[in-house]
Amino acid sequence: MKRPKCPAVYCLAALALMLLSACAREEEPRTIRIGVALYLQEDTFISTVAQQLQQLAMVEEEARGVKINLSTVDGRGNQSVQNEQVDRFLDRDCDVICVNIVDRTAAAVLIDKAQAAGVPIIFFNREPVEEDLNRWERAYYVGSRADRAGTLQGELVLDAWRFSREELDRNGDGILQYVMLEGEQGHQDALMRTEYSIRTLVSAGVPVEKLANNNADWQRGQAKMRMQQWLEELEKPIEVVFANNDDMALGAIDAWLEERLPPEEMPFIVGVDATPPALAAVAEGTLKGTVQNDARGQAERMLELCCDLASGAEPSPERITDGHYVWLWYTAVTRENLAGFLPE
Ligand code: GAL
Ligand code: CA
Repeated sequence: MKRPKCPAVYCLAALALMLLSACAREEEPRTIRIGVALYLQEDTFISTVAQQLQQLAMVEEEARGVKINLSTVDGRGNQSVQNEQVDRFLDRDCDVICVNIVDRTAAAVLIDKAQAAGVPIIFFNREPVEEDLNRWERAYYVGSRADRAGTLQGELVLDAWRFSREELDRNGDGILQYVMLEGEQGHQDALMRTEYSIRTLVSAGVPVEKLANNNADWQRGQAKMRMQQWLEELEKPIEVVFANNDDMALGAIDAWLEERLPPEEMPFIVGVDATPPALAAVAEGTLKGTVQNDARGQAERMLELCCDLASGAEPSPERITDGHYVWLWYTAVTRENLAGFLPE
């Protein structure tokens, strides 16, 4: 083979190529790897948060000039499955891990593993116990104040008691007969929503009588079964159904409609979350009110925190309460202000 006549030309070309590829490398955006572990993907509210995270990751990529690699896994309601998923995230060098923990009392193990690997851990929606979060300064919780949703639900019913008493107090005995559809046992939101909804009425001087309560694990089908049973068994009419979330409120409505009971006699039913089917039921008038659980806001805050932590920036102190908490607000939704909550 003939040797090239002018090796300098080749050297220059090679140099130019090297420089070009070095520039290309420099321009390649940094990748932030985020592992997201859900307690149960099919949960309506949680699947909305997961979708929001996906959508907002693209917005954040643009805004920060980074690439966000979001990997989402379903714990299928099993803590040992979720522990293994978190182990895999840590093995795969995630920069930050977001955990919607199955069992809120099981956070210590995950926090210790994350700390050993030096990977910040953000819990969301299912609040770990405080002592656990305090184990490490890079453990956070993003969520809404559970008691507040209960208070707002109580206020929705209180307004009806004050302004349309005849409609609410169907048997006219001056006492508000209610049933309570509760979320999972031991879940912070279930406990607090149950307690504060009633506390709000009692402190306002409304006489209340609990006809029945039961867990329905946030699920529409289970709630429908409970309601069917109550409709058969209870002697007094149910005047109010408090449901710890919208899916269960919709289950109570399903039961009423399936029994072909008169729609105008349907109890005053309230939920929490403001999911799209619940907003449709508010528009129809079957659901009297709900409380918006801000899925988009939670996803936004989580991503901001992830990006800050992954780039080594200190999260902005005005957003973090007590070193670990990022709180969002609940808002009551009725037919009156519904328009502001419908998707654009
Ligand atoms: C609650 C929500 C429920 C359910 C639960 C799961 O905040 O209102 O619908 O998603 O979280 O942890
Ligand atoms: Ca009554």
